Amino acid sequence: MEKKSRVEKRDGFFGDFGGSIVPPELADVLEELKEAFYEIKDNPDFKEELAYLFKDYVGKPSPLYFAESLTKEAGGAKIYLKREDLNHTGAHKINNCIGQALLARKMGKKRIIAETGAGQHGVATATACALFDMDCIIYMGEVDTKRQALNVFRMELLGAEVKPVTAGDGTLKDAVDEALKDFVQNADDTFYMLGSAVGPDPYPTMVKEFQSVIGKEAKSQILEKEGKLPDYIIACVGGGSNAIGLFAPFIEDKEVNILGIEPGGTGDKPGQNAAPLTYGKPGELHGFKSYVLYEDGDVISHTHSIAAGLDYPGVGPEHSFLKDSGRAKYTTASDQEALDAFHLLSEKEGIIPALESAHAIAGGMKVAADLDKDQVVIINLSGRGDKDVAQIKELHENGKLK
Ligand SMILES: Cc1ncc(COP(=O)(O)O)c(C=O)c1O
Repeated sequence: MEKKSRVEKRDGFFGDFGGSIVPPELADVLEELKEAFYEIKDNPDFKEELAYLFKDYVGKPSPLYFAESLTKEAGGAKIYLKREDLNHTGAHKINNCIGQALLARKMGKKRIIAETGAGQHGVATATACALFDMDCIIYMGEVDTKRQALNVFRMELLGAEVKPVTAGDGTLKDAVDEALKDFVQNADDTFYMLGSAVGPDPYPTMVKEFQSVIGKEAKSQILEKEGKLPDYIIACVGGGSNAIGLFAPFIEDKEVNILGIEPGGTGDKPGQNAAPLTYGKPGELHGFKSYVLYEDGDVISHTHSIAAGLDYPGVGPEHSFLKDSGRAKYTTASDQEALDAFHLLSEKEGIIPALESAHAIAGGMKVAADLDKDQVVIINLSGRGDKDVAQIKELHENGKLK
């Protein structure tokens, strides 16, 4: 985002992170969005409609499944999978889109724009737009349109226009850049349906609100099944929406360990991974303060992850706060570890995970192995792997898989 003429606000901070640093045109629109969000969020009619759509359209609550074979394989704690992959459209992204679409309708906005990496948020946005009869434009990095071609076609089938972004690396950061430009130019009639817990205030708070259904469900399900809270909750972290959605309802439960898994890619050098909480430093990106990956001093780093949805140099501000405060820990799973976990879950449990979620499985298996048999781990299975099957097939055919 342009450095000159920006309005900086102190609202929406998590410790030192978050806030809103945007051009003046956007500052007013974000203020309007924030007012509408806070007005609607506790409104009984809104809550009732959201609950109805979650149940009858999305298919919630998603099951909390005891993964017995995976548990045996790890040889330690009991592993439960929060099955967000079973939601309509195949990932957690739909939770947020239904919430934001209801808000857009309340604000009278009929032109919806969004960015997407893996295409899951694009598909969820296009789905919500079809449901609510709204125009839908999706910005997607050109590299991602190729590795997630199936999702591009799904979005088109749902009536969305997909705009490939050739700038930069042609990945998620570049798609966000383009979506923000569009938002600045067309703010009057356009609603930007941001797909992760990133961006200027109020997005991180709003996305958390809609995604925290994951943690609320998981908490009551584990209490019912095990009669106690879990020892660990684990999720992959791209922008951080599925993770914060699982984590939020457990933050005050100090006995629950919280672990986020970032994409370790192929190594620890700039350009080899997309893990700002592990390899980055505090900085600024896309209108908010958070941990960011840099190279050569102050240049935002190129990133790499085998999972398009994790391929982003920043992270949601609340994760930066949770890291610095010590309440949550963050570590990485490499491309290879994610691929191994992808195959493991497919073969042992008959569940083909999204490559993003496979990072959480990889990290969760390591944690479970070191715990006792009476301990409990919940891993968020944020999405299903259909979208990744062609990419995996190509890797096999090119001999790039072990
Ligand atoms: C299945 C799945 N999981 C996780 C992510 C990462 O996003 P977030 O960190 O916001 O949950 C994505 C992003 O596209 C995704 O498609």
